[in-house]
Amino acid sequence: MQQHKRPPASILFIFGGSGDLNYRKLTPALYNLFLDEWMPDRFAIVGIGRTEYSDEKYRGHLQEGLDKFSRRKAEDSHYGEFFQHVNYLQLDAGDIASYQRIADYVCKKEEEWGVHPNVIFYLAVAPQLVPSIAQELGTLNLCKEKNTTRIVIEKPFGHDLESAHELNDLLTGLFAEEQIFRIDHYLGKETVQNILALRFANALFEPVWNRHYIDHIQITAAESVGLEGRGGYYEHSGALRDMVQNHILQLMCMVAMEAPVSFEANEIRNKKVDVLNAIRPLKKEDVHEYAVRGQYGAGWMKGKQVTGYREEKGVNPQSNTETYAAVKFFVDNWRWQGVPFYVRTGKFMHQKSTHITIQFKEAPTFAFPAEAAESWRNNRLTISIQPEMDIRIRFQAKRPGQTMSLDPVNMTFTYENSDDHTPEAYETLLLDVMEGDATLFMRADQVESAWKVIMPILETWENRQPVDFPNYVPDSWGPEDADALIARDGHSWINLPPEKK
Ligand code: BG6
Repeated sequence: MQQHKRPPASILFIFGGSGDLNYRKLTPALYNLFLDEWMPDRFAIVGIGRTEYSDEKYRGHLQEGLDKFSRRKAEDSHYGEFFQHVNYLQLDAGDIASYQRIADYVCKKEEEWGVHPNVIFYLAVAPQLVPSIAQELGTLNLCKEKNTTRIVIEKPFGHDLESAHELNDLLTGLFAEEQIFRIDHYLGKETVQNILALRFANALFEPVWNRHYIDHIQITAAESVGLEGRGGYYEHSGALRDMVQNHILQLMCMVAMEAPVSFEANEIRNKKVDVLNAIRPLKKEDVHEYAVRGQYGAGWMKGKQVTGYREEKGVNPQSNTETYAAVKFFVDNWRWQGVPFYVRTGKFMHQKSTHITIQFKEAPTFAFPAEAAESWRNNRLTISIQPEMDIRIRFQAKRPGQTMSLDPVNMTFTYENSDDHTPEAYETLLLDVMEGDATLFMRADQVESAWKVIMPILETWENRQPVDFPNYVPDSWGPEDADALIARDGHSWINLPPEKK
């Protein structure tokens, strides 16, 4: 990550320009970058899709999206200015001849601007369309320009190790690795990036950040939403593929990686991939001891009746797809030997909360009178990623009074900024793409190493029918087996107190 100045002239072609991701996330992100004066002096955004739109209609459609999803809406007087840069190209991604229109558009802008711009192809399309679009783009001469032409790929990146490997082969055959930006939007979150600052810009934490002082680590990514109409996609994915293979393992890498010697993209990614490669491979016969899956049934969510997963649209009524997953990992290296990493994620959880908890070992209590130690709690560092964005340290303090009684207290650092001022993950990531900074993106080997970690679980689950599905109700913390998984080691899942309003 470098200090930002405005990126050079850029054209962003968004495949899936009339789709949901662009509507909800990409255009709002680009608009906010524009308001913050991070967009290049010369830029163009071209939505590409099959739907018929005039430029004017397309802009109107995206403006609706801004009204609903942009973190800042009041500045609508800037809509006009922003939308001057937005065009629509109706194009059938399957029609080879139409790709020439993209090249023509670039030539036209190059002449108009007097510079050769960055050309960014953002593939916000269904995963099955990615290979053919990438292949057609690869035939354009402008894709040979390694320093200025980039391709952005959304998740899911493959369905398993083999398909991810095939996709990597295809992409790296057409583009240089430094041209390929594989998105994991968690890495763009402000609080996730702050993990590196916390760990490596403070003398306080690094000396105790290891197996000598840390008892165990928990990573929770609980969602209070269900499928939100994405049954067709989710049914072939499940919690392990949807959240653990990417977002959660990336969080784990940030927590567990060794100190980088620089913030250069490849250095950070090398350190992260070392973590993935050190995760102890699970033997299939042991999977049941290390991993728990769940699926929600029908019930109530915050006073509203919700259907069970198997009754959702696009879902097989006998589906075995998991909507909850919990796994215990070990990282076999000097720093982490023997320290369990418990991770969990689920849909329709009691509370939306993504957080990381570092639970320290117990300090010796012997010097204190027995009653002082009654309420003794281990030190704990909690990094709350969302919806609260804070860092809490729990330590013991003396209760005021004449006796030596102790209480655990929290010291909290909160991002003062309201949501209004904190950039959304996609803002950070799109800016990085325009700048050509790949630090927060997944390299081919990272993606494959992450698949390797979860393959034994995926395969075991696919081959063994769950007997108890559905096994948790909405508005809960998931199946009882997940509590048992961690209780066997004498621990329990840590939930944060609900957000204060
Ligand atoms: C996406 C998953 O990658 O992340 C979704 O496909 C999930 O199923 C989403 O809801 C969660 O992202 P966030 O930023 O809301 O935590």
